[in-house]
Amino acid sequence: MGDSRAAPSRDADPGGSGPDPAELLTVARLAAQAGADTARAWRERADELRIEEKHGPADLVSQADREAESAVRAVLARCRPLDGVLGEEHGETGGESGVRWIVDPIDGTTSYLYGRADWAVSVAAADTARDRLLAAVVAEPMLGRMAEARLGGGTWSGGMRCRIRTGDDLARALVEVNLGTPRQQERAGQMVAALLPRVRDLRRSGSAATALAMVATGRADAAWIPGIRPWDCAAGVLLVQEAGGLVGDLTEVIPGTWPPGGDILAAGSGLREPLRQALAVVYR
Ligand code: IPD
Ligand code: CA
Repeated sequence: MGDSRAAPSRDADPGGSGPDPAELLTVARLAAQAGADTARAWRERADELRIEEKHGPADLVSQADREAESAVRAVLARCRPLDGVLGEEHGETGGESGVRWIVDPIDGTTSYLYGRADWAVSVAAADTARDRLLAAVVAEPMLGRMAEARLGGGTWSGGMRCRIRTGDDLARALVEVNLGTPRQQERAGQMVAALLPRVRDLRRSGSAATALAMVATGRADAAWIPGIRPWDCAAGVLLVQEAGGLVGDLTEVIPGTWPPGGDILAAGSGLREPLRQALAVVYR
């Protein structure tokens, strides 16, 4: 990875006790790097991949996903053997430490299999007792990017602290969108019609984790990503929150974790309300 330098460790655990976010971030970085290395290695011989459809033609998986998750899990098992893990490909492994890792080894599998760059390895650690995210890494291996955050310690990428703009000028907002579940996709046309005339432009990349990392690192101003699962968003949500952004659904802002329904609006404080209003008309 080109810019995976460690963020300075300068803030104490704001909760005062419980799992140490700085220690978890160190592990998250190692785990994400292991997943990224495995996924990249498979790209070198992509023609050998066996591609399967999980629930249909829009839901793909290959050995690259499964082996990348195994590589992430091997780091977690070595460094944090008592923690639980939820991964997209290998499911839930119980733990007893109060820390649960949420892992998507390749978020954006379709893009990955098409040889595109918009996929990511997403690794987050959560405090199960207090239901809050503690540490997160989103690696974009084809771009040599890694963004990371820990609770109370800010979001960092390439050695730079990331801060989301607070302005409310919707006309100058570049907005990432996702099309959602099949039922939500029926409204995709209305969603685009509601947003496009009001914003600078829309982008649709193939990875929710990447979309959230783009908001956190200033490559987009906001993201509307409905219908996603915890492993798609857990790490990216902390990146946005620790960069000063707001994460919620179309009803409320949810601090410290992600909206349980999986509909995510991520934006700076000034853009959230105008975007929420424009979208609420479509999804009411
Ligand atoms: C997918 C990506 C995509 C989103 C899908 C997810 P996957 O993750 O995040 O952006 O639209 O809903 O399933 O399946 O490639 O890990
Ligand atoms: Ca995935």
